[in-house]
Amino acid sequence: KKILFVTSEAYPLIKTGGLADVSGSLPIALKALGHDVRILLPGYASVVEMGHFESVRLLHGDGGIAILEGVLPGSTVPVWLLAHPEYFGRLGNPYLASDGKPWPDNPARFSLLCHVAVEIAMDRLGLRWKPDIVHCNDWQTGLAPALLSDEPGRPATVFTIHNLAYQGVFPYETFLKLRLPNRFWSSHALEFYNQFSFIKGGLVFSDRITTVSPHYAEEIQGEEFGAGLEGLLRHRRERLSGILNGIDADAWNPATDPYIAANYDIDTLEKRAANRMALQQVFGLAQDDAIVLMAWVGRLVQQKGIDLVIELLPKLMRMPIQLVIVGSGEARYEQILLDWARLYPDRIAVKLGYDEANAHLIEAGTDLFLMPSRFEPCGLNQMYSQRYGAIPVVRHVGGLADTVADANATNLTMDRATGVVFQEAAAEDLLQALNRGFVLCQNKVLREKVQKAGMSKDFSWRQSAQCYLDLYDLAMADRLTAES
Ligand code: ADP
Ligand code: GLC
Repeated sequence: KKILFVTSEAYPLIKTGGLADVSGSLPIALKALGHDVRILLPGYASVVEMGHFESVRLLHGDGGIAILEGVLPGSTVPVWLLAHPEYFGRLGNPYLASDGKPWPDNPARFSLLCHVAVEIAMDRLGLRWKPDIVHCNDWQTGLAPALLSDEPGRPATVFTIHNLAYQGVFPYETFLKLRLPNRFWSSHALEFYNQFSFIKGGLVFSDRITTVSPHYAEEIQGEEFGAGLEGLLRHRRERLSGILNGIDADAWNPATDPYIAANYDIDTLEKRAANRMALQQVFGLAQDDAIVLMAWVGRLVQQKGIDLVIELLPKLMRMPIQLVIVGSGEARYEQILLDWARLYPDRIAVKLGYDEANAHLIEAGTDLFLMPSRFEPCGLNQMYSQRYGAIPVVRHVGGLADTVADANATNLTMDRATGVVFQEAAAEDLLQALNRGFVLCQNKVLREKVQKAGMSKDFSWRQSAQCYLDLYDLAMADRLTAES
């Protein structure tokens, strides 16, 4: 099959979150299964200029845009960069200006991405390649399935929801400014409570909708997680499914990981101790074997439940534990965490910002890994944790529920417990879970049982990539039915 994969970020070219990890691995896995995949990505200044590419060639240059072709580093997957100096030539975050607010011209920038996706999909840019499938991701690409919907002979379309909380909603004036066809101004199309919604383009018009875990696919059909779109998603439930993300099993492999102090695998778990020490050293914590080390890597936002951790800090500091936090997010959380780290310099370490190397060292060295998310479409860190023998403490939501098995008596007996799972997004529940994790870490036999069960799991992309291929078949069949 020929697949155009449209995305606003792809690791290692540009990353703000899990979408980049997925966009940087799924296309490679599809290619490995024998398919012809090309990624369409905005040509952000940092991507074009950072020397990621050995060579870039100009495929098309006309009408104010250019398409440059490079290769996703470490693979043979072609990347088509949409170059447009005014929209994508600026430095900084792909979505946010330096004041932390969205770039005011985001609708125009991502509308252009969608229009260009359509031109490529209909083979109108002279690239002499017409995909069978256009696979779009998140709101930034939502207009593409809508615009494609009335192109005769169009490819089939698939839209993947990585996070329903981000919808790309703008005022009606923006809709007018973008000169979208009038018929799209309807609650059956892009209108969302009198506003204009990018994501609805994907949800209403694509042949198939997926999200990144089976659990989240169910959750978003209800009020609690549906973010106002639950009615539409229920209406399209026959076309909606959940496919669990995989992880890049080469980049996240404790046996070969260059970022960690000592490589190890399931048979040499004792070597983890060296990573634990390195972690304490790097973060300036007391070198103490007796304590339980807890860690966090991720965005410091309410979605991830960082407020629950903060609420518990007074109680946690009465336990023999240390806490390492790497992340960035809302300023108020960042500030509180920095204050606590100043108060307990040898027990709490906080590093703000993005830090790939330490993210790896943390997985290799920590005892417990915290993910008390309020909602979690899939989540990747809990899978990295299991692969690295760190025990994830997670809430029973979304992809966390699908990937972590609680260390209760039954699961322990069956050798399938891989973490600690709790139910409610409440500090009390998290505290109980942390206490259980604490006790587990103290018991060498049970602890190793849990670590080894996690390390034996296969989170690689192969299986999920096959699920996407099966789904592409369904989408192509749906499109034919729609046309006849
Ligand atoms: P989300 O996409 O909602 O932020 P995911 O768990 O799917 O959550 O993916 C987050 C990805 O970003 C993971 O690969 C995680 O390791 C990484 N990450 C997040 N924050 C940081 C950080 N401050 N430093 C390094 N890596 C980070
Ligand atoms: C989103 C979600 C996260 C998911 C990622 C990749 O950022 O918040 O749970 O893992 O997308 O699909």
